[in-house]
Amino acid sequence: MTAQLNPRGDVAVLVPAAGAGVRLGPGGPKALRLLAGEPLLVHAVRRIAAAPSVRLIVVAAPAADVEAVRELLAPVAPVTVVPGGAERQASVAAALAAVAPGPEIVLVHDAARALIPPELVESVAEAVRSGHHAVIPVLPVVDTVKEVDAGERVLGTVDRSALRAVQTPQGFRRSVLAAAHETAGDPLTDDAGLVEKQGVPVVCVPGSELALKITRPFDLALAEHLLAAGA
Ligand code: C5P
Repeated sequence: MTAQLNPRGDVAVLVPAAGAGVRLGPGGPKALRLLAGEPLLVHAVRRIAAAPSVRLIVVAAPAADVEAVRELLAPVAPVTVVPGGAERQASVAAALAAVAPGPEIVLVHDAARALIPPELVESVAEAVRSGHHAVIPVLPVVDTVKEVDAGERVLGTVDRSALRAVQTPQGFRRSVLAAAHETAGDPLTDDAGLVEKQGVPVVCVPGSELALKITRPFDLALAEHLLAAGA
C-alpha cells in the first residue's frame, strides 16, 4: 500500500541513492541491491515515510535509472526522484534543489542505511525543531582505534572515549544546509562536515544499531537476519 505523507509535516528527507556501491561487489547501484527481495532504497523510503513529521521525500538516483526508480517507488510512497551527481555531495545538492517551499527542517539519509527506524527520523527532526541548527545521530566507538602510517605501522592509540561513529539521517535547519551547499568546496562524505566548515555548531543525538550502513556483503547478510527477526 502506498504510504501517505503528512501534508502538515515540517520535514523534508533527502535520500542520496546514486552511488555505484562497488564495495558490495559487482551488480549495479548499491541502493537497488536486494535485501529480502526488495531494493535497499525501497526499505529506506518505506521507513522514512512511516515517520509522522515527514512531508516530502526527494531521492537522488543514478542518472540512468531515474525513470526506473520513479516506477519502483510509486507504490511505496509519494517521492520526487532527481538525477544524482558524480559525488555524494552533488547528489545531495541536486535533491535539496528539488525541495518545494514549506518544510523548514531537512534531513539527509543514505539509502544504504535501509533499516532506519522511523523513531530515529523523528528524534533527529525533533532536535532540530528544538533549536539546533545541525544534528547527527552517533554511536560510541567500541573498538580500540590506532592511527597508522602508509606502511601500516602504528603511530599511536586514539582516545576512543572522545570518538563517535556517525550515522544518518543528519538533520539541519533548511537555510543552514542550503548555505553550506552553496559555499561547498571539496566533496565530503557527510553533510554535517560542510556545516562544521561554516562554523555552525553540530550536536549529537543517540543513533541506532539498526541504522547500520549496508556496505559490504557481510552487512547485507546481517540486515537479512535483522529483518527476519522482525526489525
Ligand atoms: O559511497 P557511500 O557509501 O559513501 O555512499 C553513501 C550514500 O550516498 C549511498 O546511499 C549512495 O547511494 C549515495 N551516493 C550518491 N551519489 C554518489 C555517491 C554516493 O547519492 N555519487
